[in-house]
Amino acid sequence: MCGILCYLGKRQALPILLEGLRKLEYRGYDSSGLALAENGEIFCQKAVGKIQALENSLAGVQWKGSTGIAHTRWATHGKPSEANAHPHTDCREKIFVIHNGIIENFQSLKKTLLERGHQFRSETDSEVLAHLIEEHYQGDLAEAVRDALGLVEGTYGIGVLSAENPQEIVVARKGSPLILGIGEGEIFAASDVSALVSHTKEVIYLQDDDVAVIHPGGYELSNLNSDSILRQTQKVDWDVAAAEKQGFSHFMLKEIYEQPEAVENAMRGRLIEEEGISKLGGLNGVQDEFLEMERLIIISMGTSYYAALLGRYIIETCTDIAVEVDLASEFRYRKLNMKEGTTVLAISQSGETADTLAAVQEAKRKGALVLGLVNVVGSSIARETDAGVYNHAGPEIGVASTKAFISQLTILYLMTLALARHQRMSLSEGQAFIAGLKLIPDKIRRILESASKIEAIAGRYHGYKNFFYLGRKFNYPIALEGALKLKEISYIHAEGYAAGEMKHGPIALIDENFPSVCLAPRDSAYEKMVSNIQEVKARNGPVLAIGTEGDTELQKICDDFIEVPATDEILQPLLMVVPLQLLAYYIARENGCEIDQPRNLAKSVTVE
Ligand code: AGP
Repeated sequence: MCGILCYLGKRQALPILLEGLRKLEYRGYDSSGLALAENGEIFCQKAVGKIQALENSLAGVQWKGSTGIAHTRWATHGKPSEANAHPHTDCREKIFVIHNGIIENFQSLKKTLLERGHQFRSETDSEVLAHLIEEHYQGDLAEAVRDALGLVEGTYGIGVLSAENPQEIVVARKGSPLILGIGEGEIFAASDVSALVSHTKEVIYLQDDDVAVIHPGGYELSNLNSDSILRQTQKVDWDVAAAEKQGFSHFMLKEIYEQPEAVENAMRGRLIEEEGISKLGGLNGVQDEFLEMERLIIISMGTSYYAALLGRYIIETCTDIAVEVDLASEFRYRKLNMKEGTTVLAISQSGETADTLAAVQEAKRKGALVLGLVNVVGSSIARETDAGVYNHAGPEIGVASTKAFISQLTILYLMTLALARHQRMSLSEGQAFIAGLKLIPDKIRRILESASKIEAIAGRYHGYKNFFYLGRKFNYPIALEGALKLKEISYIHAEGYAAGEMKHGPIALIDENFPSVCLAPRDSAYEKMVSNIQEVKARNGPVLAIGTEGDTELQKICDDFIEVPATDEILQPLLMVVPLQLLAYYIARENGCEIDQPRNLAKSVTVE
């Protein structure tokens, strides 16, 4: 979604802002803009489309100021246009505002402002902020920002620059991430660490209602009531290279190839083989409640939701805990009794997904123990949950989640092991579980070695307009994830189904132009999957099967076959998903799609 970067220091702001905007591109956007201050004047430029368009529009601009704000916009209110791009300005064009989030009461605020004579130039909710600040401005920019924010309902991460206070930038957050980067004689503010990590690793994660005034001497932190506050500086633990492509043609491909390490990193230091158990340090403070829970509700969205679905299968298989899974966006509509013994687990790569954050808050209100499984350190969900586990997958830049998914699954296996060993799993079963898990990274490496075969298959399938992805039991969530990967990056219509559901309706669609990707490893659901494949074949539907290495019988009944190494059936999803990611990637590449930043999508969805 929208991205924010502010800079105040000794260097020229323009190149720093442009470079930072490029780092924010992966979040998804459709226009961009910036404002620079120099000698009491402000220069503002915006463009629709890629950052390159903004850069082109700046050709010949000699603006040397060392203070500026910049923004990438993902349209919510009003189409992508220069007028709707940020920064937005007040009537006098003195105050410039960039905003992430949504001002929910903007209609009524705008009406009042129009009645008071303000003139609006855009269709956005964000523009009201510039006019509200103008209304309250009496020389102190931070004061005017606080007064304006006091009237606002909704979420925001903002950066404000004023021609009348060119030596400062005011930033504030509520419900939208904002991070201060503390450099040598320079301060950054960004919605995402990736925009500033090449300049500094010292950061402060601002919290809701924080206001920071950035000036040449440093920064001052306060809340909306002007009370001074202190926030700890933290060190970002990933390096710049992690956010670069390192020779891969796309971030998504690089991240697919990083999956063996993602699994290893998720397990590192968390397995005790002699005892056949896992230890998740982030749950230390709530260990008893975690191990004794009777009911678990897992909430999440998108790919993280499919991880949750698999979590249900594996936890229920190995323990007596009743597991429910809910799309976080629907969780609030249920009248749930969070009786004692209920734990809620929120899964989110970004830790900023608005739907999941709102569901976390609702679960906390109802008194549940709320845990997080989050990749981005210091993110809102990581902070708002009672305790949690980090993925340690490193930054995931491709909009389509791959390595974060596999590391979410890995941690769900570790949680399952901890819970199962506390209940009925024996020592030897626990040790066998660990032994199976430890072999997974190398088995993923073997699948990656067969990428060229998958690439060739993609060459035969890229022209189809519709796909089914079919799976059963542990591989049903993986079928859903495989279909999501394909539709996200190739825009091809793909539906994931429990294979058993096919003959209850969807099979009507099958003909020679409607292929099915069938997940059929040699597991306890194998025979039934084979029957479902026969049903598709009987209606002339092309079948691409993903099965166990050496399964010549399966190979004979399908049109194309991708083999994956054998493992315990419960662990099989960790392997099955990899060819599906590669298949989606190569089909999208064959079709010339923008893989890392698919149309209409954003990396972290910070609006509900
Ligand atoms: C995954 O490929 C998607 N881009 C999307 O479904 C994503 O998983 C979803 O928006 C949830 O994001 P989160 O894990 O950051 O909460």
